[in-house]
Amino acid sequence: STPAAWADADTFLAEQLLEPDPALDAALAAQRAAGLPEIEVAPLAGKLLNLLVRLSGARRVLEIGTLGGYSTIWLARAVGEEGRVVTVEAEADNAAVARASLDAAGVGERVDIRIGRGADVLPTLVGGFDLVFIDADKESNTVYLDWAARLGHPGTVVVLDNIGRDGEIVREDSTDPKVIGTREGLRMLGEDPRFDATALQTVGLKGWDGVALALVV
Ligand code: DHB
Ligand code: MG
Repeated sequence: STPAAWADADTFLAEQLLEPDPALDAALAAQRAAGLPEIEVAPLAGKLLNLLVRLSGARRVLEIGTLGGYSTIWLARAVGEEGRVVTVEAEADNAAVARASLDAAGVGERVDIRIGRGADVLPTLVGGFDLVFIDADKESNTVYLDWAARLGHPGTVVVLDNIGRDGEIVREDSTDPKVIGTREGLRMLGEDPRFDATALQTVGLKGWDGVALALVV
């Protein structure tokens, strides 16, 4: 198999399983137009986040790393009208793009965007989150996982993005801060008694990567 075949299969699966979605298309177009990096979750992964919220019955969701709000829309739709998403974004310009797209998607009232570095914003949040999606600077993964446990409760679902990184995660001598941060996050999920975790590698539109899934115990 080849990366082109993985992408074709992802496109096919999305055609089978996802509805045409003008609001998400518009959010991506706005993000591209603003020059944001094209590193949002793939459509099928966005749907996975949406399903995880609904499967777990989460009503309060925390996202770390908003970017242009693409994954935020998937999460906000899933929490229902009474649910709430708090999403933390370090770049004010990104947050402005996300705010416009969330409002245009009709879920703006469910979403509280907090602008600032996670390490500064997370200590200011009131806990009780039922699901936490971590998709920000990989260098801070352990900081974010610690806050996910502190702001969650037994039963909280934690999703950590980008744990595959083209297989680079096995390189224990890597000097790439993203690889080091990813490895540290995985080590913490394995060792920290607050988490029970697994991980799935993914291939698809975004190449070879993966996602870790944890329960706060
Ligand atoms: C990067 C970050 C992401 O969250 C992602 O999904 C893909 C790549 C990155 O920083 O390289
Ligand atoms: Mg990511």
